[in-house]
Amino acid sequence: MNSEVTKPRRTALAGLLENGQGVIVFAQMEQEGIEKFVQDNNFLYLTGLSIPDAVFCLFKIKDQIQEMLFIQRGIPEQEVWNGKKMTREEAQKIAGIQDVAYLDEFYDRISYLCPQLDLIWSNVGNLIINRPPSYATFILQPVRRTFPELTIKNFNILIAPMRSVKSEWELKQLQTAIDLTGQGFIDVLQQARAGMMEYELEAILYYRMQRNGVQQWGFAPIIATGINATTLHYKQNNCQIAENDIVLLDIGASYQNYSADVTRCFPVAGKFSLRQRQVYEEVLNVQKEIIAMIKPGVGMMQLNEKTNELIQEALLRLNLITEREQFRRYYMHSISHHLGMDTHDLGARDSILTPGNVITVEPGIYIPEESLGIRIEDDILVTETGNINLCKDIPKEADELEKIRMAAIK
Ligand code: GLY
Ligand code: MN
Repeated sequence: MNSEVTKPRRTALAGLLENGQGVIVFAQMEQEGIEKFVQDNNFLYLTGLSIPDAVFCLFKIKDQIQEMLFIQRGIPEQEVWNGKKMTREEAQKIAGIQDVAYLDEFYDRISYLCPQLDLIWSNVGNLIINRPPSYATFILQPVRRTFPELTIKNFNILIAPMRSVKSEWELKQLQTAIDLTGQGFIDVLQQARAGMMEYELEAILYYRMQRNGVQQWGFAPIIATGINATTLHYKQNNCQIAENDIVLLDIGASYQNYSADVTRCFPVAGKFSLRQRQVYEEVLNVQKEIIAMIKPGVGMMQLNEKTNELIQEALLRLNLITEREQFRRYYMHSISHHLGMDTHDLGARDSILTPGNVITVEPGIYIPEESLGIRIEDDILVTETGNINLCKDIPKEADELEKIRMAAIK
């Protein structure tokens, strides 16, 4: 992600600011231990930099836009452990920001500007009563104390409309993430055998993804066999796969920090049982009907309402419920969320769709008493005239799944 990608975003962001407003976005903190570093997505979106502890600032004062970046100084004793720090010149080049200073200048430079500001947007997150305050809240505490009249607001509110409309470049990364996830799924479809552990399928997937440039999952992969598929966010992935099980995979590679989110189910035996197929077809039909509704102007709540109605009818046909109101026993979540750098991306779950949005469509039916959980999930791009299914190349028709599976296990 270079400055050609991030600079236009910063220009658009500057266009959202009133005079006297600023943005202060903090990178992810330096990890104390040996964990893998994962950048804050807002910071990455605006700078393209994968370095810890940096701070990006953008201010609009008297119609002048100022942007600056603060980075860590390299300390030789620490660099022995963690490698060389990025230099100011390197940061300037990657981010395309000229004013790059060291972190120890942060408070002085900010304090000088604060008297001319009345609002700062920062990635402070939401205050949750039993959780420690965020890193941004902690660092901005002295600013808050010195300038009590300055309002500090959650940056997500400002940036969400921008991040939820994807550029061509972003769509390319998302499509790659989805395609690699799909290829991993095909590998699993061919290589999975009864007796294997769920985590072996996770390994098959990750092998395919990492060999093609993926360095992390978008979210903890759900590889759920039999009854485990009825736990919506199952992530233990440590059970043995039985011959008559359906395996549900809810998976997404993260490519250039853009996350796929795809769910597929397949019968280990190669063919669905009659009942498994009945449930599968019901879920698939709901999914197709909802995808067909997607176009600009449609509300995500409308999609939810229609899904609920369709699932109720499916559950009645499957003899799982006798009254529509009972449907929550077997379908507990909502149909869709925005998708992008975060798997559950910025963008309200009740938003009205506009071109450039990418949302998931993921109906499911979960029947613990039958050890059966089916969910089918595709990622859909909203276009000017309707939508494009970015997962269209990943098999989901029952016949197609059976055909690939039967050919693989015979
Ligand atoms: N892929 C998990 C979820 O959307 O919640
Ligand atoms: Mn999802």
